[in-house]
Amino acid sequence: ADAARVPALVIGSGYGGSVAALRLAQAGIDVQLVEMGMAWDTPGSDGKIFANTTSPDQRSFWLRTRTKQPLSNFLGFPIDKDIPKYTGILDAEEFGGIIVYQGRGVGGGSLVNGGMAVTPRRENFGAILPTVNADEMYGTYYPRANAGLGVGLVDPGWFDTAECYQYARVGRKQAQRSGFPFVFVPDVYDWNYMQQEQANTVPRSALAGEILYGNNYGKKSLQKTYLPLIKATGRVTISPLHRVTSVTPASGGGYTVVMEQLNTTGAVTATKSVTADKVFFAAGSVGTSKLLVKLKATGALPNLNGEVGKNWGDNGNVMVGRANQIWDPTGSLQSSIPCGGIDNWAAGGAFAEVAPLPTGIETWASFYLSITKNPNRAQFSWNPATQNVDLNWQTAWKQPSIDMAKSIFDKINAKEGTIYRTDLFGVYKIWGDHLTYHPLGGAVLGKATDNYGRLAGYQGLYAIDGSLIPGNTSVNPFVTITALAERNIEKIIATDF
Ligand code: FDA
Repeated sequence: ADAARVPALVIGSGYGGSVAALRLAQAGIDVQLVEMGMAWDTPGSDGKIFANTTSPDQRSFWLRTRTKQPLSNFLGFPIDKDIPKYTGILDAEEFGGIIVYQGRGVGGGSLVNGGMAVTPRRENFGAILPTVNADEMYGTYYPRANAGLGVGLVDPGWFDTAECYQYARVGRKQAQRSGFPFVFVPDVYDWNYMQQEQANTVPRSALAGEILYGNNYGKKSLQKTYLPLIKATGRVTISPLHRVTSVTPASGGGYTVVMEQLNTTGAVTATKSVTADKVFFAAGSVGTSKLLVKLKATGALPNLNGEVGKNWGDNGNVMVGRANQIWDPTGSLQSSIPCGGIDNWAAGGAFAEVAPLPTGIETWASFYLSITKNPNRAQFSWNPATQNVDLNWQTAWKQPSIDMAKSIFDKINAKEGTIYRTDLFGVYKIWGDHLTYHPLGGAVLGKATDNYGRLAGYQGLYAIDGSLIPGNTSVNPFVTITALAERNIEKIIATDF
């Protein structure tokens, strides 16, 4: 066999890519899994693989010389600092009107995210993926995804007494006093390990403030779930620090995939090409959209349809802090893993997670990440002058999200006699409206693809990640991304191989 020919090549090793690689390999199909980020399996000079959120270093950011922390200020002071340029774990990718945070490495976003693993309420599913059979999703694929990801719930009795969740109990009390339902949010964090962290019998991870730049212990990222199963098949070659730049039809059938090998400063050390019978785009909503838009515009894949790059949304993300009364301290020890939220989706279009501010000191602040029903959708397009892909999202498009979040927090402030914090995103700036953690869309199911992710215009090309979902999931997205990938790959293996 030709060494440079593979039956299946998967671009990106996040949720979509990991599901695709595992199920293909289990069906007996050899896979090359190409990932632009690092493997994240080797400790740094401090003996740990991942850097702490409170002390970012070169490991923390993707090819930046200065940190770009989501909370840029504290007590009004800027907290970003210079770091060596390195293929670090968190990419703060800047477009004209929004910064899109994404994980970089084998495991994708699972390496950096909060692990909140939420299945949307069934009555909302029709608005999320209108062409997908909800009975199949809720009967088969959501349960498969939840099992595969290791989703669990905090023990409510332990929650009531744990020091590290005082901030969440304050959030619950204030929500309920204003008449909002407070719900526990499932997570892939190992809750037994969390209890041991609180008891101080194991090295601390969530309770040491680890999250944005990786968790060294308790979080069940894909490194602890799908990826070991992938390796155990013996059929998957994982290529970290390889960035795919081109996919074109090959003369003898299949596709020529061009990739650049990177060193840890981001320099290209080699260019390689592989021929693959089938190619799965799993580079994340932004990564897949950027590749497809470029390949269509530059003539590499001209037959992709006009839906490529469209219907992109931010899952309505917006952040805010509130200043509490002196009798409502939120605690100096805060678990970095949120476990509860305020559900005002039906009435006000907002689902607000009670998030930590793990600074190590008492802040008298409550902090929230809201997911809102923001209707705005943006589009990626090729810019021939800069040879880059642009995104036309405008910062002002966050206003509906702010209004929806205010449906919760104006009421809580009125009830508690409190005000918004103005020191977390700049000087006198209340709303964190400059970013998203939840990019979705750009190769939407049933529009850029058929109802199973087969890209229109080319046999054997698929999208299988967050790009398939048209901009909003009403809750945190990775369980839905995983469940949809499980559904699609099952169909594709059964019919296309
Ligand atoms: P994902 O982004 O996971 O993976 C894509 C991979 O492709 C990346 O590893 C990337 O490096 C790689 N890649 C991109 N372009 C490439 C190229 N050209 N060549 C090779 N490789 C390429 N969600 C949730 O449900 N609960 C939560 O608590 C959170 N919290 C959270 C916090 C933070 C800080 C972030 C940044 C994100 C979250 N999320 C989240 C979002 C969640 O992590 C995200 O929705 C999923 O990781 C998306 O999964 P995908 O498979 O679509 O892509």
